[in-house]
Amino acid sequence: MQGSAPTAELIARAEALEAQAAQELAAAADLARLAAVRAALVGKKGRVKDLQRGISALAKEQRKDAGQAVNVIAGRIAAAIDARRSQLEACAAETLIDPTFDPSWPGRRVPEGSLHPVTLVLDEIRRIFTRLGFDEVQGPEVEDAWHNFDALNIPDHHPARERTDNFYVEGGRLLRSQTSTVQIRVMENREPPLRVFAPGRVYRPETVDATHLYAFHQVEGLMVGEDVTFADLKACLRTFAASMYGADVQTRFRASYFPFTEVSAELDLRCPACSLPGERADRFALPGAVACALCGGEGWIEVLGCGMVHPRVLRAVDIDPERFTGFAFGLGVERVAMRRWQLDDIRLLIENDVRFLSQFR
Ligand code: DAH
Repeated sequence: MQGSAPTAELIARAEALEAQAAQELAAAADLARLAAVRAALVGKKGRVKDLQRGISALAKEQRKDAGQAVNVIAGRIAAAIDARRSQLEACAAETLIDPTFDPSWPGRRVPEGSLHPVTLVLDEIRRIFTRLGFDEVQGPEVEDAWHNFDALNIPDHHPARERTDNFYVEGGRLLRSQTSTVQIRVMENREPPLRVFAPGRVYRPETVDATHLYAFHQVEGLMVGEDVTFADLKACLRTFAASMYGADVQTRFRASYFPFTEVSAELDLRCPACSLPGERADRFALPGAVACALCGGEGWIEVLGCGMVHPRVLRAVDIDPERFTGFAFGLGVERVAMRRWQLDDIRLLIENDVRFLSQFR
């Protein structure tokens, strides 16, 4: 049968619509836009309905063939819409696209914590002494008088034992006032050679001010062996200072006294805030000048006590002082942190002010 001109024209329109539909469907980037395209194509007043209305306008004998041809094309358009819908649904499920989500907005920041400066220096101290071959050990915070005083050669009448200078609890026990207690516990339980460090909290009834807390941290160090000398002590603590503060840090060992060491010394570091050495700082201070907040004009900051373990301490733990010698040291962790970051008030470390703490990211 020869197709008439109106039939051929209708089929051509249908084919053109199919091609157009294919383009529009591909351009519909999400389900909402697909719904609009779909309505314009196959909705009640859509363009496919238009075509189908064109069939009834044809001469009767042409309607069957034309109708078949147009409906085949209409069927393909409907199938293309379905195919595009499943495609977009799969894509939406995969990426969880929420129509209200705008990926161009800035993200919401999760508040991020930071390590406390005391934790930071403690970790650094740990790394340094571990590298020098020291083992980390711990001791109890509630101690007896033997480990806190007697074994450390602190006699009964010594002022460090005063009721008012310690937090005593029942049974003559106390919150340890120094980590030197751990030296005793280690030497009671292990044979030399020994190389240990003991970080921990200590307690003293101090009035809190810019340089004092009633609870703070110390790191105790102890090395005992057959020929440990003061030269070993100096090398060890100088290495510590250089690792902690940089190779150019200036150190000074100053003679001192502790009951549990003989000889005893204190290690001072050059004040980073004022460049004058102690004597000159005083002599050349201008009238009315305020002394350096960090070192009080001394030019040096004391960071730790140290010395050769007293023979009486060794004897108290059954180590023969004729055969073994040792050195010990005890440093204040908060002081190390203050010197490290040039803090002029120790209370910054316990006030939990996020404006201060967030600077240690
Ligand atoms: N225990 C002392 C204090 O709390 C610090 C100290 C000094 C510890 C000398 C030592 C040392 O081991 O040898 O002030």
